[in-house]
Amino acid sequence: EAVTVLKKVEEVYQVRFEMEEAAFGGAAVDLYGTPLPEHTFSLCEQADAVLLGSIGGPRWDSLPPEKRPETGGLLPLRKRLDLFANLRPVKLYPKLRDFCPVKVDDRELDILVVRELSSGIYFGSPREYSDQYGLDTMVYKSEEVRRIAEVAFTAALNRGKKVCSVDKSNVLASSRLWRKEVELMSSNYPDIAVTHMYVDNAAMQLILNPHQFDVILAGNLFGDILSDEAAVLAGSLGLLPSASFGSKVKLYEPAGGSAPDIAGKGIANPVAQILSAAMMLEYSFDMVEAADNVRKGVEKTIQAGIVTGDITKNQGVSTKEMGFSIAENIISGV
Ligand code: IPM
Ligand code: MN
Repeated sequence: EAVTVLKKVEEVYQVRFEMEEAAFGGAAVDLYGTPLPEHTFSLCEQADAVLLGSIGGPRWDSLPPEKRPETGGLLPLRKRLDLFANLRPVKLYPKLRDFCPVKVDDRELDILVVRELSSGIYFGSPREYSDQYGLDTMVYKSEEVRRIAEVAFTAALNRGKKVCSVDKSNVLASSRLWRKEVELMSSNYPDIAVTHMYVDNAAMQLILNPHQFDVILAGNLFGDILSDEAAVLAGSLGLLPSASFGSKVKLYEPAGGSAPDIAGKGIANPVAQILSAAMMLEYSFDMVEAADNVRKGVEKTIQAGIVTGDITKNQGVSTKEMGFSIAENIISGV
């Protein structure tokens, strides 16, 4: 559906995207026996942008780590493309207020989760697994914290000028370093109000009073967890897009998973994927107006009550119908 939308953008803005597809994750395991084939990686590396579909599912869960879509595909892809910064914007559409599981007032709910994506416990070694024990390593280097903190502070400058940095520095050494570096970095941004919050409290505060947050800055694991929580505040995990960048090509992917429970039914919510494409238009192609128009297309469709099953109590429309309606609602100059 994101491609359908991009085709509409081509029409409206008289541009042409050269699109190439490559298998990744479970699809690549089935075709080539590996979740990240070299030709897929080199296509990504050479592209101007990567638009990624969600991966993984129970069919591939019991494979060895290097063959699993997540640990053998997505993580190596993020690492090899040096995608250290992951932006996950959470916005509650007025029409979806009923689907917000907590009490929100009339103020806009607009949170940006900035998640560190290429380090932390996802990548630390040693990692060991045996019948008797499992071992993971949570490690952050100063430089890694500084560069992601910079992303969060810079993003906040163009938003509500608040950064809430999340850690567990009352227990974890890696978090103590995290907090120290964020604190040091904050002196370069006198206009930004920085706060620090333990992750357990942050999980609670998101439910108690989500309006207090502007930019949430978190490490890999905490950002993963809190972004799912923040996403359902906006109505559904199926709405949350993301953009990842580092020193090379930028990558755009829905923040939610592949929803294996509804795979093949044609009812998944395509909005996260479509909004990821909108982020691609903005950040990789400098097509800010087109990106805004895609977002408006999404908003118009949702406001018209055209939604997939995850965000309606009635029967939702199909993935295809949703994508079609959004594409229809993309008009130039709006
Ligand atoms: C995400 C996903 C991934 C992650 C999984 C699929 C490995 O949950 O992008 O948030 O944990 O990073
Ligand atoms: Mn996740």
